[in-house]
Amino acid sequence: MITRITGALSIAFVLFVSYVISMSSSTGTAFAQDESAASASEAMDLSAATEGRNIFRFDTFGDEQLWTNVLRMHRAVATVSPKTALSVGLKVDVQALPAALQAALKANKVDLNDPLVTAELLRLNAVVGVMARVNAQHQITSLGVTCALCHSTVDNSFARGIGRRRDGWPNTTLNVGAIVALSPALPDSLKTELRTWGPGKYDPRHHIFDGRNLRIINTPSLPVVIPPAYGLNGVGFETFTGDGPISYWNGYVGVSQMGGHGSFRDRRIDVSINQTPDRVTPKLPALGAYQLSLRAPKPRAGSLDESAINRGQRLFNGSARCDTCHSGPHYTDVSDGGRRPVLHDADETGVDPRYARRSATGQYRTTPLRGLLQHPPYFHDGSARTLLAVVNHYNTKFRLNLSDREKADLVEFLKSL
Ligand code: HEC
Ligand code: HEC
Repeated sequence: MITRITGALSIAFVLFVSYVISMSSSTGTAFAQDESAASASEAMDLSAATEGRNIFRFDTFGDEQLWTNVLRMHRAVATVSPKTALSVGLKVDVQALPAALQAALKANKVDLNDPLVTAELLRLNAVVGVMARVNAQHQITSLGVTCALCHSTVDNSFARGIGRRRDGWPNTTLNVGAIVALSPALPDSLKTELRTWGPGKYDPRHHIFDGRNLRIINTPSLPVVIPPAYGLNGVGFETFTGDGPISYWNGYVGVSQMGGHGSFRDRRIDVSINQTPDRVTPKLPALGAYQLSLRAPKPRAGSLDESAINRGQRLFNGSARCDTCHSGPHYTDVSDGGRRPVLHDADETGVDPRYARRSATGQYRTTPLRGLLQHPPYFHDGSARTLLAVVNHYNTKFRLNLSDREKADLVEFLKSL
């Protein structure tokens, strides 16, 4: 099929392909390899986790009712070249590509400026987090999204944006706002707002989809960083504002954001969506088990300065007092074993209070610290671009008077988590 496409094109756009391949990124090498598999010794339902993996990667919960019927994204995507798709952060799963296509890509024989190639990648189910139906005429007839759209990336082992899936790793380059703004169904004012979100961010409290209509629930939008879905086993309360456990939030997002056909109700935020049959709620236990099985990536052994890490750790637990909030094995105080999360007012840490005000709790959870090197920027709104910016923020807020050397040590410790 792909040979038909390439054969039909007399001019091969070889330059772009060689560009993509030469840009093979280094992010795949900064981390140790075997971080995300659950070990059999863990008290965890592995078969539920496997089922959950399929849901996480491939289940749209029927959200074509939003992405196809309302947003008409199948029409928009039909005009998008693979080059453009990669540039807005969409990822390609190399394992879904037949060997012949991989070879054609390597030989620069695939035209990445041709939207028909995008349709072919979708037909092969190779675009991470996007599920589409493509007919024999290469037309995209329906399109939906899965959790993996935002919470998976690839290891760039084949080329930049093309590699093996890394579930749970937030897609820090995905520009959801720019993608949704391609919809022919939205008013220009809304598209302009969506385009301001930028890569790696999304605002799950800006609108909800009730099965028929998109309703704006908060303006202006306050996009937040797409967080990791790994390293959450034992944390207890999820989201920046600790609104509930994993399944609470998965239900909210699956129904109200992805647009899945299901039900979600929370009086605290005045959201009540009821659609039967519910194709989301019954899947939450397996989906939750899978997320709990995802381990945070660890930096490659030897890539950091051990003595600086040790000095940084002493500061973290000592004079910098970070451990008053970032305590315990997950570096968070959110769970004291009770049914309510332990949370903090925005002024305790000097962050912007507005996003929390739109949540069920009105406060922020002490973020569990894990895989930090993998997912800049930091804080819910991405206001700290680097770990040094985080340390500088606290240095000012808590008047810590850290020297440059102490700051560097703290950063080295944070990198090791
Ligand atoms: C369009 C992008 C997008 C999609 C799709 C999406 N999420 Fe998220 N997810 C986010 C954002 C943004 C947040 C942060 C919201 C917050 O914490 O207030 C988040 C938060 C989370 C968290 C909390 C992480 C933590 O540190 O506590 C988990 C877990 C999660 N999502 C899992 C999922 C699952 C499972 C699905 C599929 C049902 C899903 N997400 C679909 C963007 C997305
Ligand atoms: C008073 C409680 C408290 C103290 C003390 C504290 N933190 Fe935090 N920390 C938080 C909260 C709450 C957040 C989430 C803020 C947000 O997302 O806007 C956070 C977020 C972070 C993040 C961002 C994580 C991410 O994935 O975005 C880092 C890194 C961090 N803190 C490191 C530190 C360090 C280093 C110190 C000591 C200098 C420290 N914290 C002291 C409560 C605290």
